[in-house]
Amino acid sequence: MSSMQAHYAARDIEARILAGLRAAGLNPEQRLTPQELGALDHFHTGGLRASRELLEVAQIRAGDHVLDIGAGLAGSARLIASAVDCRVDCIEMSPDYCAGAVLLNRLTGLEDRIAVHEGSALDLPFPDHTFDVVWMQNVGMNIADKRTLYGQIARVLKPGGRYAFQEMAAGKVPTSNYPLPWATEPADNCLVSGDEMCSLLGGCGFITELFEDTSDLHMSRTAANATPAVAGQLGLSVFVDNLAQKAANARRSLEQGEVRLVRGVFRVD
Ligand SMILES: C[S@@+](CC[C@H](N)C(=O)[O-])C[C@H]1O[C@@H](n2cnc3c(N)ncnc32)[C@H](O)[C@@H]1O
Repeated sequence: MSSMQAHYAARDIEARILAGLRAAGLNPEQRLTPQELGALDHFHTGGLRASRELLEVAQIRAGDHVLDIGAGLAGSARLIASAVDCRVDCIEMSPDYCAGAVLLNRLTGLEDRIAVHEGSALDLPFPDHTFDVVWMQNVGMNIADKRTLYGQIARVLKPGGRYAFQEMAAGKVPTSNYPLPWATEPADNCLVSGDEMCSLLGGCGFITELFEDTSDLHMSRTAANATPAVAGQLGLSVFVDNLAQKAANARRSLEQGEVRLVRGVFRVD
């Protein structure tokens, strides 16, 4: 198991999820909605709200075929498949998260529209020109070989297809606040600046439709909505160990300008 797989492994994830749902007053024997799971399964900066905003700018249409790379528990895949009538494939390297994603797809009755594949973003197991949209949230920051990553995304997109993403990007100096939600140690932290990201994407044939730095917006909203965690409340801590410290380090790094939050929509011709 690589250090990155170890970082994202969560043992007994199905049992943890079921216990977390029950503790939050949800009944896994009954059909759940993607919205009810929103605090649990959007494992990225800004959570469900950020996914809804990305969905708005990504302009995914009914009938589109979507790929969610590094899908985690597939919260965004369920949001997309339920909000827009479309098919979503998920690729995720952690077998534990794949198992959690399959469980939650079943509990929400969305297993017919969402397929979960264990595999690597650097070697996508799909033919060329398969997808209308590739979606990725908080994953590239763990991947050093961005040329291969963006080349793979361009390869599996249909002509005219779009890549919609949000990522952490490098700030003015490297962060020294560890552990972070995505990196236990500096070796796991593969950030590039927003400019470098755009340039790498351009080199792989992508055309910018939207690129924005949402760090300040995110920080002002987080400050306005800061509420202490409540015991039994559904949240990422169901499957992320040491979450409070990791989240505090990410917030501090953002406040100090050592990391930035960016999102974008890029197109291939
Ligand atoms: C911070 S989580 C984000 C999960 C999901 N995108 C979300 O926003 O809820 C990062 C995910 O990327 C996955 N990941 C990291 N590197 C990957 C790679 N090379 N190929 C596939 N998945 C990867 C991790 O296993 C983890 O599930």
